Amino acid sequence: MSTASPKGLFISFEGIDGAGKSSHIAGLAQAFRDQGRVVTLTREPGGTPLAEKLRALMLHDAMDPLTEALIAFAARRDHLVQVIEPALARGEVVISDRFTDATFAYQGAGRGFDWNQLSVLERMAQTGTALQADLASSFMREPDMTLWFDLPAEVAAVRLATARVPDRFEAQPGEFFARVAQGYAQRAEAAPQRFVRVDANTSREAVWAQIAQAVVGKGWLSSAAESKA
Ligand code: TYD
Repeated sequence: MSTASPKGLFISFEGIDGAGKSSHIAGLAQAFRDQGRVVTLTREPGGTPLAEKLRALMLHDAMDPLTEALIAFAARRDHLVQVIEPALARGEVVISDRFTDATFAYQGAGRGFDWNQLSVLERMAQTGTALQADLASSFMREPDMTLWFDLPAEVAAVRLATARVPDRFEAQPGEFFARVAQGYAQRAEAAPQRFVRVDANTSREAVWAQIAQAVVGKGWLSSAAESKA
């Protein structure tokens, strides 16, 4: 082999329920595969057998906001150790349907749990040599890029009205999602180098064009990706 193995890439998708992430997550994974990359497609809460059990609890069992936040980070820790870090070490592209920004948006802005406490948990869960032995002890794992699907809460509510049986989050009133959307905006403002705002209140093709432009702009995909929606 003359070429060095590619560097691992970690991309997360975020946005309020109903923002329309799913089909674009599959599309981005395919675009990377078409250009020869190995992709690990995953989601949060979840992504490992243990974290999927925690997901079921979080989405369906009543609990207070601290419990909810701790479960989200416990699931995330397992997901990082078991799936994300090994895939990145192998040089793969990891695409996750949600990551830590969701905890800040839903448990922080949505439920009102203390933002600073969440930052402490974030550092605890996303740091340490259990992730990769050769990482600096202060290194905190974060996505290389976060594609944030920004959509007014009232537009998302109309889309969700036709969806299946709602989970504990989808069943929340409109003002909850307005707060969650605000939480995402706050996270985006704090990390502009990582966040890409995607205007999700437009056609599927126009949404894809924004995603492709962002990823091609980083040099992670060739411009061939821009032609497929
Ligand atoms: P979602 O990712 O939208 O999956 P689906 O497409 O099956 O609905 O659902 C996960 C829900 O969990 C979503 O409402 C957001 C919520 N959530 C949190 O509240 N905190 C978190 O940390 C994460 C990752 C998700």
